[in-house]
Amino acid sequence: MDIKSVIMAAGKGTRMKSETPKVLHEIFGKPLLGYILDNVKNITNENFVIVGHCAEKVKDYVEKNYENAKTVLQSPQLGTGHAVSMACPMLKDFKGLVLILNGDIPLITEETLKKFIEFHKQKNSDLTIMSAIFDDPSGLGRIIRESDNSLKCIVEEKDTTPEQKTIKEINAGIYCLDWDKIRPAFSQLSNNNAQGEYYLTDIIEWGKKNGLSVHAYIMENNEESFGINSRLHLAEATKIMQKRINEKHMINGVTIVDPETTYISADTEIGQDTVIYPSTYIEGKNKIGKNCKIGPCAHLRGGVEIADNVKIGNFVEVKKSKIGSNTNAGHLSYIGDSEVGAHVNIGAGTITANYNPLTKEKSKTILKDNVKVGSNTVLVAPVTVDEGANIGALSVITKNVSAWALALTRSPMRIIHDWVKNQLK
Ligand code: UD1
Ligand code: CA
Repeated sequence: MDIKSVIMAAGKGTRMKSETPKVLHEIFGKPLLGYILDNVKNITNENFVIVGHCAEKVKDYVEKNYENAKTVLQSPQLGTGHAVSMACPMLKDFKGLVLILNGDIPLITEETLKKFIEFHKQKNSDLTIMSAIFDDPSGLGRIIRESDNSLKCIVEEKDTTPEQKTIKEINAGIYCLDWDKIRPAFSQLSNNNAQGEYYLTDIIEWGKKNGLSVHAYIMENNEESFGINSRLHLAEATKIMQKRINEKHMINGVTIVDPETTYISADTEIGQDTVIYPSTYIEGKNKIGKNCKIGPCAHLRGGVEIADNVKIGNFVEVKKSKIGSNTNAGHLSYIGDSEVGAHVNIGAGTITANYNPLTKEKSKTILKDNVKVGSNTVLVAPVTVDEGANIGALSVITKNVSAWALALTRSPMRIIHDWVKNQLK
């Protein structure tokens, strides 16, 4: 089935109080918008992201990370209905389904979206909206139903009557449309409401007036509809995401000693029998093998691939690096832009100096199998240490080291006998 999406990401997000557009605020190193695009990517074949506030930044993120997404400019931003109408020219002759989503709902899952589309098809619906039930629905659009319980319309909070305000069923901000039937609505919306905006939600009344079939699908887990409007919401969503991800790993056979203080990004794979110790923070895309020990207090920053039986200990930071099996980096190290082989020992306090601040270039450190790096070593990249070589403690390695060699840069140790006594004379 031909399904496309329109993702609304043009709003300013005033309540974030930020110079960064709301949809680029991050959870575990991934922007809110990235969560939405990842959730639709296996469902749709083309995605349109409506951009407006800080359009260039959002466009840049989308173009760098998502091949099947295009951005469409909405300027000025006159409301969610106006936002979707910006995509109409691109969808002029399109006949399939269009999934419309708010750009600020990172907790929605692919599974729920699939169920939603299935519901839309089963009901032979022309327009379906996703709804959720909350004890405290404040701030959200309320779902108004007819006496026979069928969908009537959505009323934004600012337009509600006191009686409507008590309704607990809300609009989650996700819509499924038979595009060729609903498309004409977008040239007929009005902004005659409390906020003077063109509301997307008015397409329901339009659909009913035009004899189309409209439905609401109540989502099973209302937390998936959680929309981010403030930094408080961002922290709350991060906590929900943390719990969800940690539970998934534990069910799959990973030990997480203290789930409360362990943060693992959605795009991290972890093998069975690996133990993650407290206060570990893992962001971005990573792959961790079986039987590893990570943490306590480890930081994986993305692009990290760790093989089996690896130990990444306390205060070790790893970024964009491959670590071979049975390798240890037990304490206080930074490993960035590196390729580390198997059975390597990285002593405490080892640093890969991967960044040249003058050229702003990053370079690679390569440590082949069986290399042993002594404590407090700086590996100044680009540099390769060949198989089995040893590096003496406190060395600054600026040249390649040949296989099975010992490299040392420290000055020889001296002992001056009775030096202290002589000072005291
Ligand atoms: C919207 C819904 C509300 C629903 C809630 C769920 C409308 C009119 N209201 O309200 O019924 O309960 O989401 O979270 O749709 N945007 C644009 N262009 C614009 C305005 C907004 O692209 O001109 C984008 C925003 O960036 C955001 C999304 O649309 O990602 C929703 O906008 P927002 O202002 O957050 O709508 P709500 O007031 O939350
Ligand atoms: Ca919102």
